Amino acid sequence: MGPAAATALPQRPGDLVRRKQAGLSITVLTAWDALSAALVAEAGADAVLVGDSLAMTVLGHATTLPVTLEEMLHHCRAVGRGLQGQGSPPTIICDLPFLSYQCGLDAAVAAAGRVLKESPAAAVKLEGAEPETMAVIDRLVRTGIPVMGHLGLTPQAVHQLGYRRQATEPAARERLQRQAAALEAAGCFALVLEHVPADLAAAITAELAIPVIGIGAGEGCDGQVRVTADLLGLTSRQPPFSPPLIDGRGLAVEALRGWIKAQQGSRSTPPTTPAAPAAPHC
Ligand code: KIV
Repeated sequence: MGPAAATALPQRPGDLVRRKQAGLSITVLTAWDALSAALVAEAGADAVLVGDSLAMTVLGHATTLPVTLEEMLHHCRAVGRGLQGQGSPPTIICDLPFLSYQCGLDAAVAAAGRVLKESPAAAVKLEGAEPETMAVIDRLVRTGIPVMGHLGLTPQAVHQLGYRRQATEPAARERLQRQAAALEAAGCFALVLEHVPADLAAAITAELAIPVIGIGAGEGCDGQVRVTADLLGLTSRQPPFSPPLIDGRGLAVEALRGWIKAQQGSRSTPPTTPAAPAAPHC
C-alpha cells in the first residue's frame, strides 16, 4: 500500500507540546460517545478528552467519583469509533477515574495500562500533585504512558475542596506554582489548570515549557479545554466559568416538543374502531 493510501495516523500527545513551541493555540474538548467525538473532531479540536465529568453530564451522578475504569474504557472506545474516518484524528486523552490510581503504584500502572491497551486513548489525565500522585506520575511516565496533569479545582477532591476557585491566597498560589513545576519535571506532557486566578495561570504558562490548558483560568494559557456538553448548553448544572455558546437543551426540547405536537395533531380525530367481523354461520 502506497503512502497516499495509508490511513492517516492519529495525532500524538507530543503534538500539543509542538503547538506550544510554535506559538499555536490549543483547543481540547470533551467527548463521551461516537456522536460527540465526531462533532468535536469535525469542529477541529486538537485533542479529545474523555473526561470523568461524563459521570455527571452523561451518567447522571452528583459528582465524578462513582464512574469506574470499566465505564471510562467503554466510553473511550465509543469515542474512538466516532473518530474513525477523520483525516488525522485528534489524540484521545482519557481521565483515570477516582481510586484507579490512588491504591498503589502497580494498581495505577495496571489501570493506565488498560486505558492504552484496551481503548484508543494515547494518554491519561490524573488529578493532583501530592507526593503519592507524583510517585504514580513518575512510574507511569517511565512505563511509557503519557500523562496530563490537572491542578486547581480537582473535582475528585470535591468533598475536601468543593467547587470553589482555588489558589486565591498567597500560600496556595505559591504551592500551585511549585506543583505545576513539579508536574513538568516529572514528565507530564501537558497540564490542565481549572478555576484558578487568571494572572496565576498566565504566570505558570509563561514558566512551563509544557502546554498549560485552562478552564476557568483566564485567557493567558496556551490553550483551553471545555466540557462539550457545557459549551452546547446541554447540561442542567452549568459551571459559572464555562458559559454555554448555545441553548442546546432549549433548542432540542423545543424541536422535540414540536414533533410530538405534530404527531398528536395528525391523530386529532380518534380512530374509528373497526367493526368486528361477523361471526361465521356454520
Ligand atoms: O473531566 C473533565 O471533563 C475534565 C475537564 C473539566 C478538564 O477534567
